[in-house]
Amino acid sequence: MQIKPFELERYFAEHEFRVRFLLSASDCESLTLQELLALADADGLALWDGLSLAYTESQGHPLLRREIARQHQTVTPDDVLVAAPEEAIFIAMNTLLAPGDHVLVTFPAYQSLYQVAEAAGCTVTRWPLTPDGAAGWRLDIDFLRDHLRPETRLIVVNFPHNPTGHLPTRGELDTIVEIAAGRGIYIFSDEMYRLLEYDPARRLPSVCDLYERGIALAGLSKAYALPGLRIGWLATRDREVLNRCAAFKDYTTICSSAPSEVLGVIALRAAARIVERNLAIIRSNLSAAERFFAQDTALFTWLPPRAGSVAFPRLAERVPVAGFCRDLLAAQNVMVVPGDLFGHAGNHFRVGLGRRNLPEALERVQRYLDHGGLRQGRTQNVKRKTQNVKRKTQVTQPAWRCHSRKPLAGIQRRCQRELGCPIEAFGHDG
Ligand SMILES: Cc1ncc(COP(=O)(O)O)c(C=O)c1O
Repeated sequence: MQIKPFELERYFAEHEFRVRFLLSASDCESLTLQELLALADADGLALWDGLSLAYTESQGHPLLRREIARQHQTVTPDDVLVAAPEEAIFIAMNTLLAPGDHVLVTFPAYQSLYQVAEAAGCTVTRWPLTPDGAAGWRLDIDFLRDHLRPETRLIVVNFPHNPTGHLPTRGELDTIVEIAAGRGIYIFSDEMYRLLEYDPARRLPSVCDLYERGIALAGLSKAYALPGLRIGWLATRDREVLNRCAAFKDYTTICSSAPSEVLGVIALRAAARIVERNLAIIRSNLSAAERFFAQDTALFTWLPPRAGSVAFPRLAERVPVAGFCRDLLAAQNVMVVPGDLFGHAGNHFRVGLGRRNLPEALERVQRYLDHGGLRQGRTQNVKRKTQNVKRKTQVTQPAWRCHSRKPLAGIQRRCQRELGCPIEAFGHDG
């Protein structure tokens, strides 16, 4: 299979473990093992203490599948297949699709939600979310109706949506299901950010509970703050599809990690407490971000998210977002993901709302702006070799040149103190 590089994940691979501030992370502040075990009941602790590091059941630990099924109205443990979330996307797309199929995908999108389909020889129609001012984002349901084809096999939705934080109404979701059901089209529903609704009354049911041909993807990476466990799942009442997915998994991981499955059982039993903790972080960051971006409405357009741990504001046209992100990384050690990594051309960037250090990261952005980072509306500090963000974002140019006559060591100490890294960290010795 020939598949294009996953731009967002390549960008994270390059920067995630090197930068000081991840202002665009999509997950919530990760729990430590200790914190998770402190939430375990006696049965969970006994499972953990008696853990055997053997192969596990390929469909997933029965207790884990039982906890997952408990979150649904209609799904039983036999309707669940455990896999890492990204793996589950790969498995489901390869199972459901064949060359020549047509697929509609909410857009912008987490790349694998359309790239695997394209690599499998399908035609993909991007179903656009559009900015809607103070209302956030809008999804035109008529677009879906108008773009169905006789060969449409799958509709891919992602609510709460990454990167916009959009959440449709219950009525809109029902209409999507109605449209799909009318033609027997499958719905792949990426629900990785479900449970993180700011208003719990707006939480949507899982699509696999609404529709027999609905396949839900969920997992522990976002709402549960446990991305390192690599535990997710597919849930569907379509037993034939589930069995085919299970058979495909024999070619990916065969079975999931034994420690992760047990920790997953513990996490799901403590769901309410974990989700409440994460929502508290998000709510506080959301207010901080709203305040911050409201300070300069000529530069930033804040488009309020309705759920989840990400937002997708717009930067004024005069400031190309790729250069802004590159500059901010070089000057302030803050990583921000530009919108083109989601295939979006609208000069947006993603803000992650789940990390505790968001206020400090925003202070760094402020410092960047205060130090003339956007003089004359252009990013200043890093030489632009190319306009393409795919470019190696490795900074090879100095963030700025120091003309001070003071000894460089003093300047370096200040750089270390204020930016959190020495000048050499930019790979420059000038
Ligand atoms: C919408 C969406 N789906 C799936 C995934 C994959 O989750 P994981 O990275 O835990 O495999 C992500 C991760 O960012 C995501 O944002």
